[in-house]
Amino acid sequence: MKKIAVLTSGGDAPGMNACLRAVVRGGLYHGLDVYGVVRGYDGLIRGDLYKMKSYSVSNIVGQGGTILKSARSMEFKTKEGRAKAAEQLRALGIEGLVVIGGDGTFTGANLLYNEHGIKVVGAPGTIDNDLFGTDFTIGYDTAVNTALDAIDKIRDTANSHERLFFVEVMGRDSGYIAVQSAIGGGAEKVMVPETKTTIDDVVSSLQKGWDNEKSASIVITAEGDSEGSAMEIAAKVKKHCPDKDIKVTTLGHIQRGGSPSAFDRILASRMGIAAVEALLEDKSNVMVGIVNDKLVYTTLDDAITKEKPLNTDLLKMVEILSI
Ligand code: F6P
Repeated sequence: MKKIAVLTSGGDAPGMNACLRAVVRGGLYHGLDVYGVVRGYDGLIRGDLYKMKSYSVSNIVGQGGTILKSARSMEFKTKEGRAKAAEQLRALGIEGLVVIGGDGTFTGANLLYNEHGIKVVGAPGTIDNDLFGTDFTIGYDTAVNTALDAIDKIRDTANSHERLFFVEVMGRDSGYIAVQSAIGGGAEKVMVPETKTTIDDVVSSLQKGWDNEKSASIVITAEGDSEGSAMEIAAKVKKHCPDKDIKVTTLGHIQRGGSPSAFDRILASRMGIAAVEALLEDKSNVMVGIVNDKLVYTTLDDAITKEKPLNTDLLKMVEILSI
């Protein structure tokens, strides 16, 4: 293999740049030509690629976002779109592709391999941490710390005004950010998509705190919880305790930005180099992961279809710690 390409796709995550840097420098170190694809699969379809040098990735290890830009490509979801993308790679003699992204990105890469034989290796970059085959995804640690920073601030004002706050964190299908930030932020309750928490459960947990002379409370809700958004949940809870002063904060996309934590920079660097080395060892259609601090490779099929269960002990911890 002489030429590889790299792209970032789907929702961006802090540390994507550090991973990109590792792919570029890892590739150059091993004597490869490395092409950067602009705007993910959309850019690949349009042939928006450029040859990257070592200096192309200077000073980005601590930068949030992705200098290659990211997109959720509708065209790549079609057979024709993927055929165009494969053709662009062939035209430049590019034999291997590193994709940095989440499950949508890997679903596309899997199809590119199965339909066109393009050798693909994935590096898991998503704040959601919801991919099977790795203990941590790039960006997750930073997102949890961003959420925690906000929750700490909300705690101050919640205490001063003796209020009940509902704080919504990201996670359309995943409660990882919610659980971690609930434990770290000392929340009274957490609601996640993986388990059903009824409004009655929430009210009864809060009531225990109030009976224990707690004057301020925080409930963390994951974006994808089955009871709805934090706003909707707050309205439902209000019916059970009309006298309570309730406020809602949706953290939103601030969780996706910002300088990556030390953990994410190092994770991303390890994964980027491992992705290049996987291609050089003729591995393909796999995702790089870290399990128990060891590098492992999981098929893209498994990474996207197998469930990574939330540790229910952590949910129990929130309950124990909130009495
Ligand atoms: O996949 C990461 C994620 O941040 C999810 O938690 C969230 O639901 C989604 O992306 C939001 O995506 P978009 O920025 O496209 O609205």
